[in-house]
Amino acid sequence: MTASIELGSGDPTRAALDVLALCVEEGPLEKNPWIAALERAMGGGLLAHAKLVEFSGKPEQLLDVPTLGKTKARRILLVGAGLGAERDAARLRATVATAVRASSGPGVTRVGLALPPEADFRQVGEAVGLGAYRFTKYFTSERRPKSELKKVVVFPSGRAGSHAKRELALGSDIAQAIALTRDAVNEPPNVLTPEALATLARRIAKDGKLGVKVLDKRGIRAAGMHLHYAVGQGSANEPRFIHLSYVPRGARKRLVFVGKGLTFDSGGLCIKPAPGMGDMKTDMGGAGAVLGLMAAVARLKPRVEVHGIVGAAENMPDGAAYRPADVFKSLSGKTVEIINTDAEGRLVLADALTYAARLDPDLVVDAATLTGAALVALGKTCSAYYATTDDLASSLETAAHEAGESFWRMPLLDELADQLKSDIADFKHTGDRYGGSILAALFLREFVGGCPWIHCDVAGPVWADRAKGIYPKGATGHPVLTFLQLVEGFSR
Ligand code: BES
Ligand code: MN
Ligand code: ZN
Repeated sequence: MTASIELGSGDPTRAALDVLALCVEEGPLEKNPWIAALERAMGGGLLAHAKLVEFSGKPEQLLDVPTLGKTKARRILLVGAGLGAERDAARLRATVATAVRASSGPGVTRVGLALPPEADFRQVGEAVGLGAYRFTKYFTSERRPKSELKKVVVFPSGRAGSHAKRELALGSDIAQAIALTRDAVNEPPNVLTPEALATLARRIAKDGKLGVKVLDKRGIRAAGMHLHYAVGQGSANEPRFIHLSYVPRGARKRLVFVGKGLTFDSGGLCIKPAPGMGDMKTDMGGAGAVLGLMAAVARLKPRVEVHGIVGAAENMPDGAAYRPADVFKSLSGKTVEIINTDAEGRLVLADALTYAARLDPDLVVDAATLTGAALVALGKTCSAYYATTDDLASSLETAAHEAGESFWRMPLLDELADQLKSDIADFKHTGDRYGGSILAALFLREFVGGCPWIHCDVAGPVWADRAKGIYPKGATGHPVLTFLQLVEGFSR
């Protein structure tokens, strides 16, 4: 069950709640009327305690105080919202998500959330849903949570009407779309197979009235996607190609999003070492994001056409597996010599990008957990992106800033492209270890047919080692919010 969001009226300090979470502006606390009211209700001591532990409302600072019967709320949670000037959309979402996550726990079903001034209700709705997210389905008996968050009552600092209610509900639905992405990435790979991704896509299509097309293993071969087919040919969990479409009347632009959907990447015959191999259940993070994005698009109904394409496969070693030195013809007609079966993502994406380019789009965007090199370059929290024009790069930067997600532009260095020449086919699909993320991008560029294109190597940020801001520990839902902002940018 997901927590419901309600718009509260009246004085939050008098509401019956398990936790009252207050988003507190940085500065003198006694100026906050709600804190002043709580100070009186507590019979003094709250301000002195906050001072003692140096709580001043700095971003994401937390102070949890049990009220021991002095107020109707059993706990008061102060959450730093930072200074007014630094409170942009990203800061607000991070504050609210942190407040909801820190409020949750044993015995907590009803939380009140007192907002900072000028909070945008859609962003609050998004952040409440993102902060309340848990993945607990595989816990049984005593590991099962005994209670769960059922209701979050939002108290605005100023007036709010029916518009606020609608925006909260919209934000909450967007968070639910992102939860689909997180669930898919958190699911173990024995459950989340390529066919399970297709089932999820069909469900999203049905719920959101989107077009859907799924190709199975034979369909992929019949369509001529021999690179995609090759990657999946060594697995008992057969590959799928998925195409979701949102086509509104009178759309001015056509955007196509493509996701790498490796439901498990063992490396194939070029098998990965055991430590960390299990992390490769997240190798469908790009695909999960594209599916979550399409669910959000179906709810938001922007005035642009949006397509979501997923190349799903499992990369396994087997008697039928593809091997180094094999040569395959891609959907584009270009031939590729296989060098390392662990560089499987760019093969699946090459065919999916060719398919995307044939839709005659105004923009193709792909998301792929493509290279360890991107992690080496930028760390685990920032995505590497490549754009064919500076205008597209600035669109992505704007979207990422609004979303509060971390991206850094990388160069498509033509001087490295020589490494992709093969002695036997049109291309090899890998080169040097150095510049690995760039080389992968250069390989992909051969298959986008000159379309305006943004490539996002999301290998790090689809997963987090600890909770922070809008991201929980585990699957984060990166980069759905950024892609949604990008779509909205093109829809304006
Ligand atoms: N899925 C991996 C990339 C990856 C590595 C994602 C670590 C997240 C964390 C990808 O399929 C891969 O194995 N890439 C190779 C390419 C190499 C063989 C050219 C890599 O990065 O080592
Ligand atoms: Mn690999
Ligand atoms: Zn991979």
